Amino acid sequence: MARIIGGIGTTHVPSIGKAIAEGKQSDPYWSPFFRGFDEVHKWLASEKPDVAVVFYNDHGLNFFLDKLPTFAVGAANEYRNEDEGWGIPVSKSAAGDADLSWHLINQLVGDGFDITICQEMLVDHAVTIPMALMWPGEAAWPVKIVPISINTVQHPLPSLMRCLNLGRSVGRALDGYDKDLKVVVVGTGGLSHQLDGERAGFINKEFDLLCMDELARDPDALTRYSVPQFIERAGAQGIEFLNWMAMRGALTGTVREAHRNYHIPISNTAAATMVLENVPVAAKAHGCTSGEGESCCGSCVKSKIEASKKPEQIPA
Ligand code: DHB
Ligand code: FE
Repeated sequence: MARIIGGIGTTHVPSIGKAIAEGKQSDPYWSPFFRGFDEVHKWLASEKPDVAVVFYNDHGLNFFLDKLPTFAVGAANEYRNEDEGWGIPVSKSAAGDADLSWHLINQLVGDGFDITICQEMLVDHAVTIPMALMWPGEAAWPVKIVPISINTVQHPLPSLMRCLNLGRSVGRALDGYDKDLKVVVVGTGGLSHQLDGERAGFINKEFDLLCMDELARDPDALTRYSVPQFIERAGAQGIEFLNWMAMRGALTGTVREAHRNYHIPISNTAAATMVLENVPVAAKAHGCTSGEGESCCGSCVKSKIEASKKPEQIPA
């Protein structure tokens, strides 16, 4: 069985790539941010995940305004980066786990998410910067990835509730996956920031802290905000928090906040880092009383799939 070890929320500001390339991690500007990853490295070194499911938003490298899926899932064994025009070095590629991708895709479509399936997909800084932060150094990244992109760019955007439920569908699929893998779920971007227009440079610390508190404790509470209300409080690009909502949704067990760092500014952004540990709820796997569909556990999903294969249940 796949095991979801937890979730990581992290900013994805491109200039972090330049700071890494120039070895500036200890400079006064950068160190309060990079130091926030020391705990993340310790946690990853002790948990040793095999796979990272990464919720992120593409900024025009793979999808542009002409064709922009609300949700897209990578189903490749390799994901390349290309020059995005931010003045940062092109990143090494990430290895993909196409088998796991197809398993997630089956669950998502079965749950009513009309996703775009991408057997070829470039990944931009919203994947590569978090990867470089989580696993620094020259060596190949020690995990395979499944990238899942959420449209945070071209309105209308999906709601906070929809993204939370997208994550929940992914979480159920992971719980029901029969390969013995440890999975970390990642949500990138945010927190409050606005890159353009009259409010360029906008940051809202009070709202960011509230979002992080509620994300850990009670993510459903955040669904009280519509997308325009969220943007009013977090800035036009602060809505990248949708990726964090999906990450949180995929944590199917009991969630504990293990680490947080919050630093203003990194470029135009309030830069936040968070580790949420996921402790699987063993009781859920037996005599599941959580109801059908939405909140049902991975074991139930698996047995439903098995049951659906029994010949006597196939209508004549
Ligand atoms: C910045 C932030 C982003 O989320 C992004 O995608 C690009 C740039 C910034 O603050 O510079
Ligand atoms: Fe961004």
